[in-house]
Amino acid sequence: MKASEVRKRYIDFFVERGHRQIPAAPLVLPDDPTTLFTSSGMQPLVPYLMGEPYPAGKRLVDSQPSIRTVDIDEVGDNRHLTFFEMLGNWSLGDYFKKEQLAWIFEFFTKELSLPAERLWVSVFEGNNQVPKDQESVEVWEKLGIPEKRICYYGVEKNWWSRSGTPVQMPVGEIGGPDSEVFFEFTQVKHDSRYGKTCHPNCDCGRFLEIGNSVFMQYKKVGDNKLEELPNKNVDFGGGLERITAVVNNTPDVFATDLFKPVIKSLEELFKVNYGDSEENDRSLRIIADHLRAAYMLIANDVLSSNKTQGYVLRRLIRRSVLHVRLLTKSDRLGLPVVEFGSFGIPIRLKDTNGVGSIIQEEAGKFVKALGRGMKKLEEAVSKKEKITGDFVFDLYQTDGFPLEISLEVLERHGREFTEEDKKLFEEDFEKHKETSRTTSAGVFKGGLADHSAEVIKLHTATHLLLASLRKVLGEHVVQKGQNITRERARFDFPNPEKLTDEQIKKVEGMVNEVIKKDLPVNFKVMVKEEAEKTGAIHAFGEKYADTVKVYYVGENFDTAFSKEFCGGPHVSSTGKIGGVRIKKVETIGVNLRRMYVVLDG
Ligand code: ALA
Repeated sequence: MKASEVRKRYIDFFVERGHRQIPAAPLVLPDDPTTLFTSSGMQPLVPYLMGEPYPAGKRLVDSQPSIRTVDIDEVGDNRHLTFFEMLGNWSLGDYFKKEQLAWIFEFFTKELSLPAERLWVSVFEGNNQVPKDQESVEVWEKLGIPEKRICYYGVEKNWWSRSGTPVQMPVGEIGGPDSEVFFEFTQVKHDSRYGKTCHPNCDCGRFLEIGNSVFMQYKKVGDNKLEELPNKNVDFGGGLERITAVVNNTPDVFATDLFKPVIKSLEELFKVNYGDSEENDRSLRIIADHLRAAYMLIANDVLSSNKTQGYVLRRLIRRSVLHVRLLTKSDRLGLPVVEFGSFGIPIRLKDTNGVGSIIQEEAGKFVKALGRGMKKLEEAVSKKEKITGDFVFDLYQTDGFPLEISLEVLERHGREFTEEDKKLFEEDFEKHKETSRTTSAGVFKGGLADHSAEVIKLHTATHLLLASLRKVLGEHVVQKGQNITRERARFDFPNPEKLTDEQIKKVEGMVNEVIKKDLPVNFKVMVKEEAEKTGAIHAFGEKYADTVKVYYVGENFDTAFSKEFCGGPHVSSTGKIGGVRIKKVETIGVNLRRMYVVLDG
């Protein structure tokens, strides 16, 4: 069965059960500064999962093209992809576990005719905050899944939020326990390198996760504190490529019709056969996956650069170039032009003519540097030199080798790195990157140099600062610009006169008083016009999307000390800032003042 047929059957199945098909969102969400890419179907629906009414109803279905950059390093096996399509259905406070699990089971076993005896499921085992999901267990048992094929896991596996476990979730984030469905490939025997015993979440290849029903019912409201959302929602996601593989009884997503023609053209071009060698298969999959993802990004108007989305695109192209070299063992230039077609992908792609040549051009830029960098790496290996953070950083800076490329090449040359080693490299590498980055580079939105603890504290402090300035000087004070590094926050605002020492003291005192009160910091997602009506302040001259986040400081939104349009991140309560000091205030233009604030507590 082709992927397009699986997609159609899924959408039709849920439409027949009262769901409205909604259009998929683009790969880069224009109004969500918190993430680089759309990485799951729920992302554009966050405000509605939080309780806002959705105009099209309470039952929704779609297929959402997504990019997961956390999976990039995993690409190369038979199941991980950078770009993929997520089949999704939602209940916004309508049906819940009983209907959801029964429908998913029916879809897999009746609509797609998967043998029920090959399906295993997992449920949340419970912790001190959220009980064991006994309700799902009962539903699965009624549907005929025997006890033996129902497995329990904790927050690491059976809790879903965009940021991970409850502890990893920032305040304001939503999440919940989930129940996953796995397909068992009986032809695959457990490989003991992956652990003594096999289980659905084992990575040996015997099981493949094909669907995840998240019971999205909690919001994080403070350290270790979850609160029930107004609605009990369902958020289902299943990878189209994986489901298609399973329907065709193969564990390999690269053997589906979505990838077959691409793999075939790579085989012909590089004179290798897919399936002949583990190492070559890995390279073929990486090239196919990365080229497809690059193709989709460019067709979604992403341009290669050294920042944010453009940097991901660049990394994908560079890593493909590297694998062409590893595969051909020659200094072959550039990348092949591979035609992906749209396969009915449900998002608007800009004219794809020419995407291949954009990829080739970007690849061409890297080929020379690749040769140079490879030489340095090979020399280091042959001289048995110790590989240091300095060395890999130099390769990055002078030859454009991202850290993972250096490590990958070194591993191919027999150097072994443990996960620990890699973490140390990463930290070292990041430190170098940090120092070489100009403080004004501002890779992150809102003038934040990074998302370190210091920057986040200072970021919340500037909200308190703006609110205090308005209370002391007047409502003419708005944010004209800000830049926050680990050392200090710089904040620009209009004021006709130079500030007096007394005014400065008063503002500083007010900020520190709120810090002392340890008020909670939360946000609300609101329609822009409504947010404006609440008196929430926003940066001067900034363009905002139709839906905005409003961060507020205080127990209550209406009486909050500060309400500001902002993408975050912030500390969860003001006490975490410790204290601040206004270091200096200078005049930088007619009617324009610049204030420097440091942490002091
Ligand atoms: N949002 C859930 C996921 O991405 C369904 O797995």
